[in-house]
Amino acid sequence: MKNMIRTLLVLAAGVCLAGVMGFAQSSGKAVYQAHCQMCHGASGIPNPGMAKMMGIPAANSAAMKKLTPAQMFASVKNGKGKMMAFKSQLTDAQIRATVAYFRTLTK
Ligand code: HEC
Repeated sequence: MKNMIRTLLVLAAGVCLAGVMGFAQSSGKAVYQAHCQMCHGASGIPNPGMAKMMGIPAANSAAMKKLTPAQMFASVKNGKGKMMAFKSQLTDAQIRATVAYFRTLTK
């Protein structure tokens, strides 16, 4: 019985670790899907109506491509135009991760 409990504990710990690692790997994308996609679109291309109404540039637009990671970080953290500030919702690490993910969409 004791052995079985120990086996279960080891298994449970393993599952937790795998979960945490999976999260760390995909968190930029996960944050993007949860907080950014509704405006910027799944692939960084906002839907045309939304883009026009809100003034959202496509991820692969020239304007987006010339931004540095630091500029993007600042705009996401503090807000810009009709985009709200994310500093109360996301940690700096989450903003960095999601900006890194967003930048993969600018190519
Ligand atoms: C409510 C809709 C909305 C959401 C949600 C949103 N954005 Fe934006 N985003 C905008 C708009 C509108 C702009 C254009 C701002 C401007 O230039 O006036 C923008 C601009 C940007 C820019 C360019 C900033 C710059 O300096 O020109 C980046 C990068 C960006 N968004 C990333 C993100 C990321 C990452 C998230 C999720 C954490 C996110 N956005 C969530 C609407 C949104």
